[in-house]
Amino acid sequence: MSEGMRFHDIKGIGVDCVDISRFEDLKPHFLRKVYTKKEIRYCRSKPVQAQHFAGRFAGKESVIKAFDRAGKSVAMDKIEILNTTSGAPVVKILRDGFDHFRIFLSISHSREVAVAFCIVTCER
Ligand SMILES: CC(C)(COP(=O)(O)OP(=O)(O)OC[C@H]1O[C@@H](n2cnc3c(N)ncnc32)[C@H](O)[C@@H]1OP(=O)(O)O)[C@@H](O)C(=O)NCCC(=O)NCCS
Repeated sequence: MSEGMRFHDIKGIGVDCVDISRFEDLKPHFLRKVYTKKEIRYCRSKPVQAQHFAGRFAGKESVIKAFDRAGKSVAMDKIEILNTTSGAPVVKILRDGFDHFRIFLSISHSREVAVAFCIVTCER
């Protein structure tokens, strides 16, 4: 093992798939319940907003599934999915008690469907 390398145990995985058409006319109450202000700003900045709202929704569901396997529950609006400068999704849990987990998330969308896959690990 090289210096600085750490072993991680996989604690949970989750996958989710949603129809993008469900995300075309989102009501303010739904937006508030599911997304953070930064996420809404990100999605609103895109030409096809519904793809990004849908991708984030699938991402959050996949994170919830992965944490359920890890014995932890987390609400949608406490999961924030933002992006690196190259566009890769980065997940932050806006609650105490999650710092020792690492969360890997991948999102994809076609014109009709968005999918996401999440892996949660914990340092051994
Ligand atoms: C990174 C890349 C593979 C994303 O492909 P894409 O078809 O736009 O991605 P999808 O439409 O399936 O999914 C979009 C999601 O991918 C994720 N994503 C974007 N860039 C990413 C990256 N660099 N790494 C990981 N995930 C990324 C985001 O979550 C995005 O959704 P969001 O903006 O709502 O968060 C692509 O932009 C890329 O750079 N490819 C490199 C190869 C290339 O340049 N080919 C062109 C010549 S053929």
